[in-house]
Amino acid sequence: MSVDIRFLPDDKTVRVKPGMTVLDASRKARVHIRTRCGGNASCLMCKVTVEDDGAGLSAPGDNEVRKLGSMIDERVRLACQARAIGSCVVSVPEDPLKAAVRAQLAKQREDDWL
Ligand code: FES
Repeated sequence: MSVDIRFLPDDKTVRVKPGMTVLDASRKARVHIRTRCGGNASCLMCKVTVEDDGAGLSAPGDNEVRKLGSMIDERVRLACQARAIGSCVVSVPEDPLKAAVRAQLAKQREDDWL
């Protein structure tokens, strides 16, 4: 049995065995999720947002709940801790550096227009 994990906004779907973490699935899908701690639930850089009902992901453990606090209620999960137990859809936030570069380029284009 396999399950599908769909990553937004890239709209890439990967088929994995149940139990695989979202982080490992993202690597298989060639979707970049930032990490610094190697998947130990300590850097909090691997946050993703659950875009469906969340039934396809394992329930957050005590450590993940403690680390995320109220973000859990906003459907945020740690990709290194959330495991696929069914098909699911998650959204990966844009890398802050890429977002800053994109915003700067957009501003330059706007300035050039004026
Ligand atoms: S990879 Fe560091 S918290 Fe998930």
